[in-house]
This record gives sequence, structure tokens and C-alpha cells, in this order.
Amino acid sequence: MTVPSQPIGVFDSGVGGLSVLRALRAELPYERFVYLADSAHAPYGERGDAYVGARTHAITQYLRAQHGIKALVVACNTATAAAIHEVRSRHADLPLVGLEPALKPALSATRTGRVGVIGTRGTLTSAKFAKLLASVAGQAEFVTQPCDGLAHAIERSVAQPLPSHPSATEIRALCTRHLRAMGRFGTKAGQMDTLVLGCTHYIFAADDLRALVGPQVRFIETGEPVARQTRRLLQSAGLLAKEPLGGAHAGPPPVQLLTTGALDPLQAAAQRWLELPADCCAQVVIP
Ligand code: DGL
Repeated sequence: MTVPSQPIGVFDSGVGGLSVLRALRAELPYERFVYLADSAHAPYGERGDAYVGARTHAITQYLRAQHGIKALVVACNTATAAAIHEVRSRHADLPLVGLEPALKPALSATRTGRVGVIGTRGTLTSAKFAKLLASVAGQAEFVTQPCDGLAHAIERSVAQPLPSHPSATEIRALCTRHLRAMGRFGTKAGQMDTLVLGCTHYIFAADDLRALVGPQVRFIETGEPVARQTRRLLQSAGLLAKEPLGGAHAGPPPVQLLTTGALDPLQAAAQRWLELPADCCAQVVIP
């Protein structure tokens, strides 16, 4: 039987989904979380559906069997596009939340009617995204750009936060190349005044993106709406934790961060972005 005190599983190809975990923790302070960064197999964005589907399946099984998760948040647009249908059918009893580029919220934000959408190649060329785009057809012009290499560069930069490090230079160069290919950003007629961040990694390159598009362009990302949706889902399943978490001896720590890759980058990201101590991170093997 599933009970409210079980943890929520959250996973991404790497550290990008920590942006979603941050929003989840703010929205659901009484919940326990087990976050899995599949960094040994990142990036997902340029690998193809079969590979991403197999990883998503293995991780879902692992989180259920080893951590008894009561719900799963797939904090990765690429894995959602490639595999959410399959996870839903194989794990029909598991409350499941996926991510997709926030096109509908962008419709309410844009004044010029031109919206930029950046994401991985896997997400933006998926049938799921084509369907989403078709659902908003005619309501605004969406300019899409697969940002090959960007999630991977962000992943590599985590352990070396210095702005002068080579991966920081690479992130700047990739942002510049990809955004320039999209056209003009700004609030004048014909310019893109809204940018959808369709990959959970990209929020961690927000300063570089901001420097390129200017101060007035709205960024739309998915962390907060996903956190609210997770709350609704848990509530309707009767699985929302309503009590403050117990003290140090009341069970496993409220947040466990696991990685299939190197430990240092996850520890650095946990401290930098979530103010979590290094000892909540551990390495795991998921074949
Ligand atoms: N963070 C992921 C996403 O939201 C994928 C990045 C990658 O591994 O390519 O799509």
C-alpha cells in the first residue's frame, strides 16, 4: 500500500532537473524527495528515443524498487517526449508528472506574438512536441531552435563555476550561436519578446541568455507549474504529506540526491543551487 510518507522520485539526465526540484521543495515543504541525475548517460537530447526510453524505464524501476517512491516527476523534457506514454502504461498505478516546453503560458506572456522556444533536438523534433505546437497554431508565431551541445556544456560546467573556465566560455558561445540563428529578440513589433526554456538545464545558463536577448524579454520555464501540478495530483490520490518532516531520527533524509556519474558535480550543484549539504549526495549504478 502506498502512504503519504513515501518519497517523490524526480529524475533528469543530469543536474538540469534540480531546477524543478527547487520548485518542488518550495511548493511541497513536507515531502521527501529522491532525485536521480543520470549523468553517466547524459546528454539525452541527441541520443534518440530508444536510448532515452530504455534509461527512463530502468530509472523508474530502480526508484520504485529501491526507494519505494509514491509518485514520479520526470524533470526532463527530452525523456518526457520520448517515453512518458510508455511509463504511464507500464506503471499505471504510479502518479506521474512530465515536462513539456511551456507554449501555452508563453501565449499569455507575449505582446508581439512572436515566441522563441529552445530545447534539445530530441524534444523539439518529437511527435509529442509537434502535437503541442499544433494545439497553439495560429495563436502566435513560435520560432524553435534545438540547442545542440548546450545541456552537455552546462552539465560539464557544474564542477567548475568560475566564469573564466573553458566550459563557461563554451556555454556563452553556444548560447550566442543558437540564439542568433533564431532572429531578433526585443519588444518591438516583429521581435520575439518571450523565450521558452524547453530544457531544464537552460535556467542555469540564464545569465548568458539574458545578456543576449536583453532585459525585457520574458523567460518562461516549467518548475513552478510542475510543482503545482504535482501537488494537485498527490492531493487527488490522497498521498500529500501534511505533517512537517520528523527530526533526524525519524527516517531517511528529506532530500537524497543520487547520480550515476561523478559525485563532485552533483555535490557542487546541490550546494550552489539548493543549499544542500554534500552528504545528501550519493553515487549509484543503474545498468
Ligand atoms: N534536461 C533535459 C531536458 O529537459 C535534457 C538535457 C539533455 O540531457 O540533453 O530536456
